[in-house]
Amino acid sequence: MIQSTATELLQRIEQRVANVGIIGLGYVGLPLAVEFARGGFRVLGFDIDQARVDALNRGVCHTGDVDDRVFQQALATRLEVTNNFDRLSEADVIIICVPTPLDNNKEPDISHIMSAAEQIACCLRRGQFILLESTTFPGTTGELLLPLFERRGLHVGSDYWLAFSPERIDPGNKRFTMRSIPRVVGGVTAHCTRLATALYSTIVEKVVPVSSPAAAELVKLLENTYRAVNIGLANEFAQVADILRVDIWEVIDAAATKPYGFTPFYPGPGPGGHCIPIDPLYLSWKLRSLRYRARFIELACEINQEMPEFVVDLVARALNEHGKCLNGSYILALGATYKRDTCDIRESPALDVMRLLLQRRARLAYVDQYIPSLKLNDITYHTKMLTGETLREADCVLILTDHSDVDYAQVAQEARLVVDTRNATGSLPQAPHVWRMSRPCARGQTQRGAA
Ligand SMILES: NC(=O)c1ccc[n+]([C@@H]2O[C@H](COP(=O)([O-])OP(=O)(O)OC[C@H]3O[C@@H](n4cnc5c(N)ncnc54)[C@H](O)[C@@H]3O)[C@@H](O)[C@H]2O)c1
Repeated sequence: MIQSTATELLQRIEQRVANVGIIGLGYVGLPLAVEFARGGFRVLGFDIDQARVDALNRGVCHTGDVDDRVFQQALATRLEVTNNFDRLSEADVIIICVPTPLDNNKEPDISHIMSAAEQIACCLRRGQFILLESTTFPGTTGELLLPLFERRGLHVGSDYWLAFSPERIDPGNKRFTMRSIPRVVGGVTAHCTRLATALYSTIVEKVVPVSSPAAAELVKLLENTYRAVNIGLANEFAQVADILRVDIWEVIDAAATKPYGFTPFYPGPGPGGHCIPIDPLYLSWKLRSLRYRARFIELACEINQEMPEFVVDLVARALNEHGKCLNGSYILALGATYKRDTCDIRESPALDVMRLLLQRRARLAYVDQYIPSLKLNDITYHTKMLTGETLREADCVLILTDHSDVDYAQVAQEARLVVDTRNATGSLPQAPHVWRMSRPCARGQTQRGAA
């Protein structure tokens, strides 16, 4: 039987009269806050970034995944945004959505989680339910947050509840929304899991309970490590195909026709964003502390991190074929964000490629309508307009992000030389001046047959 205080909270959740607090209003926390407000809950959003709080209170949204009008409607009805953390005591449910980056030694930096948890611990009261959504290593909820809250003299499972639920949104993805992506939840006790299931059932179609917070934490790391390792394999195959003078995109597309046992992953300048380049390192760090070396993770990360070098080498070879050297050549980079149709440049490999090009003394400009300006090696660059003239001026046009608003047929037609790391030109006829992750070669031509 679920205990009386838990029953009360369960009813408040089911009747949507529970107050929901969200700590951290970024790519994860803001859409979540809006979804709970749309679901009928009163929501308090907390953030330490004063400028972000001010902008949100003016109705200005910073992520493309939340529609301005939907956000403004939530703000006018059930959503409040504040940096007054004393108000955490008003929330029945508190969800932590703060960043989990790497520190300078490429090790987990969970200081944001711990400082949010300290804020909660200061005003934790009976009847509150705390959930962690930030991606982190297994044990964070049960071994770090639980003792912090227990020091308040309250008992988990009876006085308050604690659970982990990994966020799985894919910014920019219009096909899978927060509502349609199933939610995994793992509570410290069975009551915690039951409350988490009830809570997320109000805003998502399917909730998947697992037996513990550590299992839920590991689910997220399996998902993202699976991506990192498979992207690493695709990146290694891109290099293999380049050596063999085979078209990597043709190979992947043909392999993907197998109706079972193969899921296509694609090469590129390297994975970016706040998840794939970072999360597997959270797991390998944890395992190192337990005297286990996660070899798949280390190798995949190594291959992925080398991709910007591979791309720069490709540009140098392509220029060489055209009788030019990289030093002094004018490179126009198309795309700065880590993936298409987002405005996120965190860990973007496009920036690594651009920095390497500058190191090799190329002259650089970029086009990205999502990023009006960016700083590279202390110099501020402003996006160019994509025109025929801009394309014709460049010695090489380098496609680093395949934003969907770009006319790639025009790029291939106007540019003197194209290096395409995303297969954005894949649907166009092959052309000798367009390198798609490798030197273009005639159909059927192999390494042995090549000049
Ligand atoms: N971005 C994604 O696609 C994605 C997807 C799934 C999971 N995640 C995970 O979700 C978590 C959050 O990621 P994000 O992309 O939303 O980060 P973000 O940087 O976009 O937003 C985090 C917000 O938290 C605020 N913040 C930091 N410390 C705080 C504190 N102590 N108290 C209150 N606010 C604080 C920041 O000011 C910022 O507004 C990370 O663990 C990430 O790995 C991200």
